[in-house]
Amino acid sequence: MQLLKPTKKYAESWWEAIREFETENRKGFWNIPDKPTDIDEYIQRTADHAQGKNMPDWFVPATTYWLIDNEKFVGNVNIRHKLNDKLKKEGGNIGYAIRPTERQKGYGSKILELAIPKAKEIGLQKVLITCDDENIASAKIIEKNGGKLHDKNIVDGKLVRRYWLNLGR
Ligand SMILES: CC(C)(COP(=O)(O)OP(=O)(O)OC[C@H]1O[C@@H](n2cnc3c(N)ncnc32)[C@H](O)[C@@H]1OP(=O)(O)O)[C@@H](O)C(=O)NCCC(=O)NCCS
Repeated sequence: MQLLKPTKKYAESWWEAIREFETENRKGFWNIPDKPTDIDEYIQRTADHAQGKNMPDWFVPATTYWLIDNEKFVGNVNIRHKLNDKLKKEGGNIGYAIRPTERQKGYGSKILELAIPKAKEIGLQKVLITCDDENIASAKIIEKNGGKLHDKNIVDGKLVRRYWLNLGR
């Protein structure tokens, strides 16, 4: 099991996963401002965003990784290099999603575990991670990986938890 930057090698299972995510009406799991149409373009855009290039004003530099297991795309994680006002309230530094057909197998816990050294490589010493108060699975994943509950706030009518996770040096 490994985290890789988006790559053509696993593009087919990534497209399958996109179709799975779409069945649950989830937006934004591709971690770029709008839906990708082509793998080459997606690879270029995620590479650019990791360097803070070619992105809208409201977007912060961010690195996307794919979780690959058994030669298949399982999920993705997006590491935001800094926080803006919106991300401070909801979104935080790290967001992740596991494709619907691969949930409840431990991948969610693993993707955050593997993202922590990547966040350190980016130079982050602590990360904010948020989840909906009712997202029990995500709260467990964050706490299991050392996140400490900071507070809970109403954002757009729903209760959102904010956790800080110290990465140390
Ligand atoms: C949240 C999400 C990443 C969890 O992924 P996952 O691969 O199912 O997570 P895991 O298998 O590692 O499960 C983590 C824990 O949550 C529990 N869990 C998983 N799904 C659950 C559910 N639907 N209800 C209750 N508990 C659940 C697991 O049993 C496990 O508990 P344990 O630590 O006591 O063993 C996945 O559901 C997802 O991608 N959801 C949509 C995107 C999202 O919500 N991302 C997080 C944004 S904050």
